[in-house]
Amino acid sequence: GAASKGEYRHYMLKEIFEQPKVIEAALEGRLSASSVLVESFGPEAQALFQKARQVHIIACGTSYHAGLVARYWLERYAGVPVQVEVASEYRYRHPVVPEGTLFVTLSQSGETADTLAALRFAKTLNYVGSLAICNVPGSSLVRESDMSLMTRAGPEIGVASTKAFTTQLIALMLLTLSVSKAKGQPAQPEIIGALQALPALCQQVLGLDRQIEVLSQAFAEKHHALFLGRGAHYPIALEGALKLKEISYIHAEAYPAGELKHGPLALVDSEMPVISVAPNDDLLEKLKSNLQEVRARGGQLFVFADQKVGINSQDDIHVLELPNVHEALAPLLYTLPLQLLSYHVAVLKGTDVDQPRNLAKSVTVE
Ligand code: AGP
Repeated sequence: GAASKGEYRHYMLKEIFEQPKVIEAALEGRLSASSVLVESFGPEAQALFQKARQVHIIACGTSYHAGLVARYWLERYAGVPVQVEVASEYRYRHPVVPEGTLFVTLSQSGETADTLAALRFAKTLNYVGSLAICNVPGSSLVRESDMSLMTRAGPEIGVASTKAFTTQLIALMLLTLSVSKAKGQPAQPEIIGALQALPALCQQVLGLDRQIEVLSQAFAEKHHALFLGRGAHYPIALEGALKLKEISYIHAEAYPAGELKHGPLALVDSEMPVISVAPNDDLLEKLKSNLQEVRARGGQLFVFADQKVGINSQDDIHVLELPNVHEALAPLLYTLPLQLLSYHVAVLKGTDVDQPRNLAKSVTVE
């Protein structure tokens, strides 16, 4: 059935490998040849998105990380200011809601207690409307929101969220393009083309599985790890660190690479592996100099890099090359090797990958 492990050793691995297929499903019927279909978000979406002068995004855990990526996208590709916050903080603040603000929740389950409470609280405030991006049709979050978009990831059994995250990112890119279109901004056909090409690129990246498994040996005995990223890849670093923490119980932290010398550089030595994602974007040169700072302190670097960026493997730097991708979609592609890395480290450590200690799949109590 849909929720059996089949040939895979764990649900998590199966769900990682399902990503090309579910990303395709998340796009199905929501694009025309050169643009997004705004009505995918419902009949009232066009009018609401046109009115949206800013967006507040609320979620927990991995879903919160998807929201952080969306901030970069909505600002850059739709010109709309965005605030992103974890639900447990938002619901107890006294948020000031400027006129014309759209409220967006992100959730795999649609039943996370804090996210649901945040939505109920938001309904007492001055928002123009609410949108739930969710994987479970008929869930509380979907029923109680004005609009919803299903992520179509299918059942996710592993406690560590994988395909739910990447399909949320697809939904959020569709939201970005829809808000831009509703506001009458020029279409962005290159991003549409890149979205259509993405499942095949993801498949290619999953082909790195063996190499990542080899790489994972360097982590099994470590107690700490540091993840670095810049721009929209800072949230991807956060997500990579969360995955490693959840299933391998290795303490991991993520930093925007530019913050390194403001503190965490003091932690770097040969016992602290540093993982970085280096897509080919305009922050690459900045990132490269941050990586030099790590090497100069004897740090062991593991870099997932665009094949064209010219970072080569040496004694203290292990590079795995990823295919070139439109920079808007790089956060999606670079998530995959980080998922595989944490998976293989956890398997080496012998933890319960699908059911890590102390955690529940969905947190339905506060
Ligand atoms: C991620 O791997 C988690 N186990 C967790 O952070 C999860 O993303 C969070 O609890 C939010 O759940 P939701 O998406 O179902 O609301």
